[in-house]
Amino acid sequence: MDKGLYAVVGNPISHSKSPRIHSLFAQQTGENLEYTAIQAPETEFGGVVSGFFSRGGQGLNVTVPFKEEAWRLADTHTDRALRAGAANTLYVDDKGALIADNTDGHGLVTDLMQNHGVELAGAKVLVLGAGGAVRGVLGPLLSQKPMSLTIANRTVAKAQGLVDLFRDEFADTDLRACGFEEPSEPFDVIINGTSASLQGDLPPLSPTVIAAGTVVYDMMYSLETTPFNQWALDQGATRVFDGLGMLVEQAAESFRVWRGITPETDPVIEVLRTD
Ligand code: ATR
Repeated sequence: MDKGLYAVVGNPISHSKSPRIHSLFAQQTGENLEYTAIQAPETEFGGVVSGFFSRGGQGLNVTVPFKEEAWRLADTHTDRALRAGAANTLYVDDKGALIADNTDGHGLVTDLMQNHGVELAGAKVLVLGAGGAVRGVLGPLLSQKPMSLTIANRTVAKAQGLVDLFRDEFADTDLRACGFEEPSEPFDVIINGTSASLQGDLPPLSPTVIAAGTVVYDMMYSLETTPFNQWALDQGATRVFDGLGMLVEQAAESFRVWRGITPETDPVIEVLRTD
């Protein structure tokens, strides 16, 4: 059988771990595929996508800054891509339609629940940030029926916009928006989806949002403890995770969408930690 062609498209792309992750998945499952990284010029994403599929490519992952553009380019969207308003996974169906999917939220929820044993049903959840990354994960988080989900953001109006977007569909959860400094009670789960640490900033949260049992999850990952997770540890948090597991889990879900096989993620997360 022909080798399946897959790639991740972004700008910049040289540091992407996706080619490594997918080649480990291919090795593990025996699937015959090649997965490369493509840097698209900012104005040429559409041409790169159509060129890739016209050359026989079977699936693309999409990363910064093209996830919204990928969504707009697609003919059809999965429900989770519709809610996310952005796509990280593209493929062409047997009628030639470009399908947009989004596996980021699935990746986050799977890492939290399956890899770290975190209970989301009935939990009090605090999500920091209200950009594309947060919108992408809200549907899967809310589908787990947390008791409450508070979206805190520097620009409160953007958090309120997300609340307005999701409230009706997820009426079981007490969904609210606020600024960073407002919450003072302890949460069960705190998820950092801001890009503040890229500027060396920390969201100015009250230390009282952290209790001994609070699970803290930074959607960013790095070799060292992320600045946000370090802050949480300094406040006494003991269960602190970064986004490497989410990265591998979203990749595994894209792999399943394309190939119909779910790879094992534990050994791949292990390898990436020690790469
Ligand atoms: P992404 O795709 O990573 O979500 P984005 O849509 O630009 O990127 O959103 C970035 C998020 O990080 C936003 O919630 C942003 O806050 P604003 O909505 O107020 O802009 C947040 N963010 C970025 N830099 C920040 C900083 N220095 N401190 C706090 N929040 C910050």
